[in-house]
Amino acid sequence: MRRIILLLSFLMLQLTMAQQQASPNGDVQLSFSLSANGTPTYKVSYKGKEVVKESTLGFLLKETDPLTGDFKVVNSKKTTFKETWKPVWGEESEILNHYNELLVELRQEKTNRLMNIRFRVYDEGVGFRYEFPTQKELTYFVIEEELSQFAMAGDHTAWWIPGDYDTQEYDYMESKLSEIRGLMKQAVTENVSQYAFSPTGVQTSLMMKTNDGLYINLHEAALVDYSLMNLNLDDKNFIFQSWLTPDAKGDKGYLYTPTKTPWRTIMVSDDARKILASRLILNLNEPCAIADTSWIKPVKYIGVWWEMITGKSSWAYTNDLPTIKLDEVDYSKVKPNGTHAANNQKVRAYIDFAAKHGFDQVLIEGWNIGWEDWFGHRKDYVFDFVTPYPDFDLKGLNDYAHSKGVKLMMHHETSGSTRNYERHLHQAYQLMKDYGYNSVKSGYVGDILPIGEHHYSQSTINHYLYAIKEAAKYKIMVNAHEAVRPTGLCRTYPNMIGNESARGTEYEAFGGNKPFHTTILPFTRLQGGPMDYTPGIFETEMKYVNPNNNSQIRSTLAKQLALYVTMYSPLQMAADLPENYDRFLDAFQFIKDVPVDWQKSEYLEAEPGRYITIARKDKHSDDWYIGCTAYEGGHASELLLSFLDKDKKYEATIYADAKDADYMKNPKAYTITKQKVNAKTKLKLTAAKGGGYAIRISKLAN
Ligand code: NOJ
Ligand code: CA
Repeated sequence: MRRIILLLSFLMLQLTMAQQQASPNGDVQLSFSLSANGTPTYKVSYKGKEVVKESTLGFLLKETDPLTGDFKVVNSKKTTFKETWKPVWGEESEILNHYNELLVELRQEKTNRLMNIRFRVYDEGVGFRYEFPTQKELTYFVIEEELSQFAMAGDHTAWWIPGDYDTQEYDYMESKLSEIRGLMKQAVTENVSQYAFSPTGVQTSLMMKTNDGLYINLHEAALVDYSLMNLNLDDKNFIFQSWLTPDAKGDKGYLYTPTKTPWRTIMVSDDARKILASRLILNLNEPCAIADTSWIKPVKYIGVWWEMITGKSSWAYTNDLPTIKLDEVDYSKVKPNGTHAANNQKVRAYIDFAAKHGFDQVLIEGWNIGWEDWFGHRKDYVFDFVTPYPDFDLKGLNDYAHSKGVKLMMHHETSGSTRNYERHLHQAYQLMKDYGYNSVKSGYVGDILPIGEHHYSQSTINHYLYAIKEAAKYKIMVNAHEAVRPTGLCRTYPNMIGNESARGTEYEAFGGNKPFHTTILPFTRLQGGPMDYTPGIFETEMKYVNPNNNSQIRSTLAKQLALYVTMYSPLQMAADLPENYDRFLDAFQFIKDVPVDWQKSEYLEAEPGRYITIARKDKHSDDWYIGCTAYEGGHASELLLSFLDKDKKYEATIYADAKDADYMKNPKAYTITKQKVNAKTKLKLTAAKGGGYAIRISKLAN
């Protein structure tokens, strides 16, 4: 008997003591414990340095006791997992998923409710999530707030954008955590739909650097049936706390057991390149849920698009209809405005250009009726997604494209009316099937309808995934703009081939992005999945496209090429007008050559906000491609090409900024040079201010 009591008390002691778990290589240490009042807490360190100081976990629930204190550990389990999996498309053809897990099962004494916390510890960080098993004491519940803390160990430098329930289309700020409050007003630039909620609220993925050189990233993985997490900073103590997106009533989540939250992720390294190389977010997502993925193919495309974005042409067919009832409008009676771009003649010319230069698809926006009053009015029934304007011959144009080996890319702007889109979704996807489209760019501009819902509320999150899952039934790939920032779900649903969900190239035509923008996005937005950034703008001054647009893109032409390598996406657009490519055909060759799917990637140089240089090997050949993007200070590289096959010879074609190039004063000055290289070659290259370079390295027959 005494022995049993001793054993039991030993076990109890084990459960009340801190529980530890380490990453496979031992660099990352996680510690879980209960505080004196029974609140779950955790800490993370990296090579002995504090990354997350003791931070509390829990929930405030509506109309019932909080899930905070009074917990006891019922059980805990440690396991190890190691596998290699093959993504359908990606930065590499095989991904290692190796972690050590700690599962802590908790019971709240007074209420008898059960809550588990599962931690996965990787060599580059930690993911944790809450799990609620089926139980009588907790069935249906409403979240008032999730109380996950991330206590930072100092006043780190952060690359941040304002926390917002409706938009991610902000330029990044670089500042100390303590400076966020003072800069918030300046950071919240105008958008058609936005809701910034706090003077110290920021979005994930949040990138930080400590004074002693640690790179820390906070984000989430596998956001499903839950609202999006922002972070709110206690800027006296540098503690971030989760701040979920509310619904129209202000509630932050309707759940019922069994259920689980998305993963909360903390990535850490003393080498910024390892943050870019990490697959932690993808690995925390479920394996592919689509049995046959043979129809999912990377896409390089052009589009009838930039001319509308720059204001040269219009999506709308007429200027005579200030408002429209879609079911009543008769377009045969209105006067065409003469600027409608999606017309038969123009689309045929784009198809010819795509066929001539080997592009897979041509996106056409403004092909369907309803664009005359499409945004800013919270209008429910804006589009039907099936009726073309009179000057767009749906069948004829698709037939013409197919006869030339090109597909048209469908466009579904929902103008934020998720309900209207769901009403028409099946008809719209069926129409795509009927005419031979296999990809759609969708969009959610303006406030979400039903009124009061946000772009990142739980029900809107569910809408985005519904559209992706339904599209898969029709073998359709989806590239959603203004939808929620990705959290690695493309592992599970690889037909989610792109997203915008950040400030893309379109803003270069609306006043410009900061030149360091593309040195930050791969650390932040791209952690969750690819971005349809739409690079490749060669005519850097908009006035040559539209005399009424004074915007100038904040990039050199050579850097526009680099983005096809540094901004990984299986869906890449050559976004400029065909006539501008015709002016620079030698540089355009790089866009034609560069693949959109890779065997492996080498992260050669990286510093957030300064520069990123990446080398990638084509999935289907022995060729390598390198891209470098630099901030407004420029960048000098010395690259050792040791990743090339030993004893093999290659030829490098280098597209670089000319000596006098500068993103504002001389952006279109570039040079193209060729030289023989091998695995021992050291290349010295310079990116101009706001510039970059792109290299193709082709293997020579020995
Ligand atoms: C915003 C998208 O980001 C852009 O690409 C698109 O052209 C417009 N909405 C219209 O749908
Ligand atoms: Ca957008």
